[in-house]
Amino acid sequence: MRDKVTTKPAQHIFVALDTSDLMHALKLAQMLKGRIGGVKIGKEFFTSHGPTGTRMIADEGLPIFLDLKFHDIPNTVAGAVRASISLKPFILNVHAAGGRAMMESARDAAAEEANSQGVDRPLILGVTVLTSLDEADLKEIGLSSSTNDQVRRLASLAQESGLDGVVCSASEIKSLRTHCGKEFKLLTPGIRPSWADVGDQKRVVSPLFALSQGADFLVIGRPITSSDDPVTAISRIEHDLQHDG
Ligand code: C5P
Repeated sequence: MRDKVTTKPAQHIFVALDTSDLMHALKLAQMLKGRIGGVKIGKEFFTSHGPTGTRMIADEGLPIFLDLKFHDIPNTVAGAVRASISLKPFILNVHAAGGRAMMESARDAAAEEANSQGVDRPLILGVTVLTSLDEADLKEIGLSSSTNDQVRRLASLAQESGLDGVVCSASEIKSLRTHCGKEFKLLTPGIRPSWADVGDQKRVVSPLFALSQGADFLVIGRPITSSDDPVTAISRIEHDLQHDG
């Protein structure tokens, strides 16, 4: 499955199913399967429909990015990661700010549980600095580093702790790619094709720009999910990726 993600440009895309409407999410999954890398299940869908709803989406045959951003003491995060494995996520994530011991526990729990269930281990990504935070916000919570330095520090810590990669903003892809090497997975949201509404995102880049900077995975939501025709939206993105859009 991991190879499949790189075969066609749209296979780098995980579509964010940010809805509490199970039927809408299922319809999107049915429409988009085979055309994208997978779907992202986040806190809104998961809190509404839990593991049962997530399995219904997964049963459509799409790789799942379980975006629950675990952040707790190591033992609790390890338990949550273990419990996630039966959903067979392709990607799951934890906050890198949870620290080395928490990330190591997450990694070990995923490997052990996947092994005991005889399934593929998910990629585990660390969330660096949320793109909704700026330097003033970091200062307010007691961090005097620049956003870039903090992202780099957390990405290095995630790598040392054995995680597979990080979630970062498009503006950080290039420096993290250089800093962390080509095997380290970089996943980025805040993506807008030139023809799509920006919505509430402040700093957006095109799919082509993000991939050309070195992103492995792109998370795209509303340009696809709010479109009258999500399949055509994907085809337009694919066309843009192949024709310098
Ligand atoms: O609809 P849109 O393309 O803006 O959706 C982006 C998705 O990525 C949403 O699920 C959002 O929560 C998520 N995300 C983000 N920025 C971050 C982290 C996650 O937009 N820094």
